Amino acid sequence: MRVAAIDQGTTSTRCLVVEDGGTWHVAASRRHGQHHPAPGWVEHDAEELLANVKAVLQAAGRVDGIAIANQGESCLAWDGETGKPLSPVIVWQDGRTADALAALDRAAEQRSKEISGLPLDSYFSASKLAWLLKNIPSVAEAQGRGRLRLGTTDAFFLDRLTGTFATDLATASRTGLLDLSTGGWSKEMCALHGVPMECLPQIRPVDAGFGEVDGVPVKVSIVDQQAALHGHGCRKSGDCKITFGTGAFLLAVSGSDRPTAADLLPTVAWQRAGERPVFAIEGGVYDAGSAVEWVGRLGLYTDPAELNAFEGPSALSRGIVFVPALSGLAAPYWDRQAAPLFIGMDQATDKRDLVRAVLEGIAMMTASLLEAASSVTPLGSSISIDGGLSQSDHFAAFLAAASNRTICVPQMHELTALGLAELCGIDVKAARATATTFAPDGSVGAQEHARYADAVTRSRGWRQGHPAS
Ligand code: G3P
Repeated sequence: MRVAAIDQGTTSTRCLVVEDGGTWHVAASRRHGQHHPAPGWVEHDAEELLANVKAVLQAAGRVDGIAIANQGESCLAWDGETGKPLSPVIVWQDGRTADALAALDRAAEQRSKEISGLPLDSYFSASKLAWLLKNIPSVAEAQGRGRLRLGTTDAFFLDRLTGTFATDLATASRTGLLDLSTGGWSKEMCALHGVPMECLPQIRPVDAGFGEVDGVPVKVSIVDQQAALHGHGCRKSGDCKITFGTGAFLLAVSGSDRPTAADLLPTVAWQRAGERPVFAIEGGVYDAGSAVEWVGRLGLYTDPAELNAFEGPSALSRGIVFVPALSGLAAPYWDRQAAPLFIGMDQATDKRDLVRAVLEGIAMMTASLLEAASSVTPLGSSISIDGGLSQSDHFAAFLAAASNRTICVPQMHELTALGLAELCGIDVKAARATATTFAPDGSVGAQEHARYADAVTRSRGWRQGHPAS
């Protein structure tokens, strides 16, 4: 079997062709525009994303099956008859609905956590879909005419590519509208947010089949993070991976019962056809790669190789700290009002110190997620990581020290695509066999943890007192 594994992510659309035995190659990769029409808003053009999906699929050549990973909570509205988008894609990072959600009461937040497992945060699709309906006249008009479709990007791609208006259970669990206990849309959550349930896609297992493109079946559709969890080989309770992309996303398999996840999130890892769902706990850092790119744009470094070439004691141990709250703080703080913060510089501080502090700040934030996850489910002996930052040995070694855990970096780093191929039934074990490991070296101690926690406290709530003008 030969599968086109398409990873439609936040910054690019990539396609790997994976074959029986786990051999693979990248068929194509395309970047797309990031639009920021107002502070805190992040949009994509739905037609551009779809055109990129089609282009990378065409580059794959002849295949026996297609699998698509989506960027999670990002969502849009489209016309069910013409298939034309009625809105941009509102990206998961977009915070435009934060104020509306903050106005809801604690009882609503409690119900949201009970039913969907998720807090009332603008990260998730529910409030974004409601925003589209309230603010874009053509969306409301399409609803009036019974033609409105609302959904995450996967549902749009599938509708346009195969004529199947469906999503999968794992992606549905990222919307804030799913009832985790029934596996169906929640009437109560739809009513709370003002999302018409009849406009949402049908929910299927991740490998239930989603129609055909020119006679080739779309075998699998799933969120990119969950595909990566599978691709890392995580199957048992406590198996954990962290993907460092735009943000950093930790997922740990928790088993077949819904976990109680305190400040992290219970989410569906996957559901295979005819089987019970497998659950995971999830924790994210909104800005990881995006924080590193930001300091690059500011001119603090020019060559990515500079992210791997630091010597001597850490910036943190010298009192220089960065909190990566460019889009606020996600788990376990859930504070959209937090702002990024550099602190502890003096006249001798140089660009290298600041870049180093950024990498360390991301690692420290991620280490706190590992700590939170381990209090829910005991984690395995090593943590597998992937994504851009995992390619920096310096970063991986610092993360090992910060978390006091062994960090494992598979040599093959297209884990999302690997997971997609695996879910299609391809044995990919050989492809992820080799890995580099980093053991903790004791360089991050109680003093460093206390210093970082202090900086996080100082970053919190800043935007509330000092909103953007
Ligand atoms: O929750 C958002 C996440 O799924 C996006 O991942 O790799 O597209 O940045 P990525």
